[in-house]
Amino acid sequence: MGRYGAELGRALIAAGGVAPGERAVDVGCGPGALTGELVALLGAPAVWAVDPSAPFAAACAERLPGVHVRVAHGEALPFDDNMFDRALAQLSINFMEHPEAGARELARVTRPGGTVTAAVWDYGGEMRLLRAFWTAAAALNPGAVDRDEARAMRFGTPPELAALLHDGGGLAEVEVAPAVVSADYDGIDDLFAPLESGVGPAGTYTLSLAPADRAALKAELARRLDVGSDPFTLTARAWVAVGTVA
Ligand SMILES: C[S@@+](CC[C@H](N)C(=O)[O-])C[C@H]1O[C@@H](n2cnc3c(N)ncnc32)[C@H](O)[C@@H]1O
Repeated sequence: MGRYGAELGRALIAAGGVAPGERAVDVGCGPGALTGELVALLGAPAVWAVDPSAPFAAACAERLPGVHVRVAHGEALPFDDNMFDRALAQLSINFMEHPEAGARELARVTRPGGTVTAAVWDYGGEMRLLRAFWTAAAALNPGAVDRDEARAMRFGTPPELAALLHDGGGLAEVEVAPAVVSADYDGIDDLFAPLESGVGPAGTYTLSLAPADRAALKAELARRLDVGSDPFTLTARAWVAVGTVA
């Protein structure tokens, strides 16, 4: 998923109206795809980033010296009220155990008039890689249907995501728009290798399979994406919600 991160980060920055001179926090930063784009615009001293995963936080801090990186959950941000002009959560609010509390925290740390921006993949639609992955998995093993992120993840539709920011976060003027980003692959091996290293729910599922079943999944995925050993590009759509702190 990391290949889509920087372009998606730029889409969140634009949607949230982040401007030079402001302070921003990236919640659920992972290794820092969005954080890096915030640094490019605001400079490292004006950027804060948190993730509950210590290895991800360490990777982000190492990659982006000068950013204020903390190990913390989005549901309990270690920041004062109104500390930021902008708070952003890229592909992370749906991973929180208590997303409504996370939305409230994003709003709490943002000044009145500032914005909170959150993005979630369109798991059930135009996130092509994951849609093809779970369709292929279910074709080979009907039991995989329960693992499909379109079912297992919340907030993957505009109404759900808008309600999270509005009702959960208490944000005003919430709007949701699509962001379509893309990633290049050298071939199907290049696409499948990260899954075999266990990244994300799709990677966890891939790793759970016996080698023969894994090979069958790879072939079915290639068939459904209509790709092979030549380079190709995939697009991915995320829903991006923006709300204003009253
Ligand atoms: C799909 S990754 C997205 C990472 C990064 N934002 C990006 O766009 O590449 C999901 C991230 O959410 C983080 N996460 C999980 N639970 C969280 C929580 N309760 N609060 C904040 N982040 C959380 C994970 O550790 C992981 O880094």
